[in-house]
Amino acid sequence: MSANGWAIHAQGLTKRYGSLVAVDHVDLEVPAGSVFGLLGPNGAGKTTIIKVLTGLSDITEGTAHVAGYDVRRDPMHVKQRVGWVAAEVILDDDLSGWENLWLQAKLERLSDWKGRAEQLLAYFELTDRRKDKVGTYSTGMRKKMEIALALLHQPEVIFMDEPTIGLDANVRRMLWELITGVNKQFGVTVLLTSHYIEEADVLCDRVAIIDHGRFVATGTPSELKGRVKADFVEIETSEALDPARLRAIAGVTDVRSQGNAWILRVGSAEEALPRLFHALQTDRIRRINVEKPSLESVFIDITGKRIEQAGSDVQDYRKFYLNVRRARR
Ligand SMILES: Nc1ncnc2c1ncn2[C@@H]1O[C@H](COP(=O)(O)OP(=O)(O)OP(=O)(O)O)[C@@H](O)[C@H]1O
Ligand SMILES: [Mg+2]
Repeated sequence: MSANGWAIHAQGLTKRYGSLVAVDHVDLEVPAGSVFGLLGPNGAGKTTIIKVLTGLSDITEGTAHVAGYDVRRDPMHVKQRVGWVAAEVILDDDLSGWENLWLQAKLERLSDWKGRAEQLLAYFELTDRRKDKVGTYSTGMRKKMEIALALLHQPEVIFMDEPTIGLDANVRRMLWELITGVNKQFGVTVLLTSHYIEEADVLCDRVAIIDHGRFVATGTPSELKGRVKADFVEIETSEALDPARLRAIAGVTDVRSQGNAWILRVGSAEEALPRLFHALQTDRIRRINVEKPSLESVFIDITGKRIEQAGSDVQDYRKFYLNVRRARR
């Protein structure tokens, strides 16, 4: 941890790929011991921020300190002090839980790891399955194993890129509890990316909402939600709709298009909906969705669009561990 209490501290952090600005002058302050969320749609720059903070990708402009080290000047130390949990590519299904920990210790060139491995297995309630092949583990157990591997070298900060993508609701909730538990139990700072609104809301002490490489809002989830003084109604009809008709409805303060749908900003959904149904009675309403103040509505309020679903970056995780391996040689 750096002297001023930040686990991660970046100023003017910028990453360009040619003319594309993937991360655009971002200031980031993550207190040590907290859970911080980067929330944003596809291509917003979430994974790129993780890549530049972990030294996997060069910083184009700006400064960043992670776990007390300057990422540009001392990337090797940064790599040794952080862990990265991504989609389940790091587990070797043909090895047992214990053997996976052993392999991780080899990759990380750790000498004194067995006590820590025992502690992690006990914490994740995997001790009695330690000799079983990881291929036989349930999804939840595999998730626990991935986190155990990331924690083996006692990192100060762990990065989790879309940790719950593709998981069913039960496993996702279990993982939320695990992330909170690990944060408290091991005192490790967590920076995670997500486009699940509820995830960021439930898990994170602070959230940065990101769009086109810029932080459009930062704060605690309740601070951010408190900023929006409106409801949003998303409506899709089977016939083309003239937005002027929507704008003419009392209580509608803004109308924006989103694909085939329209997003209406209204003072109160309860008051606006009856008027909306009345005004559109001749149209066939195919879908209607009401967004009360939430992190999603913060995003809609600022950008006029929704945060959508995405995939994760599996290859980068492998590269990250190869780099750690090289760093330890
Ligand atoms: N190696 C690269 N070369 C060129 N452009 C890149 C590279 N990596 C990322 N980008 C671009 O940078 C932007 C940000 O991508 P990034 O992967 O950080 O987004 P993301 O927020 O993680 O999105 P997702 O939710 O889809 O994972 C995108 O426009 C992407 O195409
Ligand atoms: Mg990504």
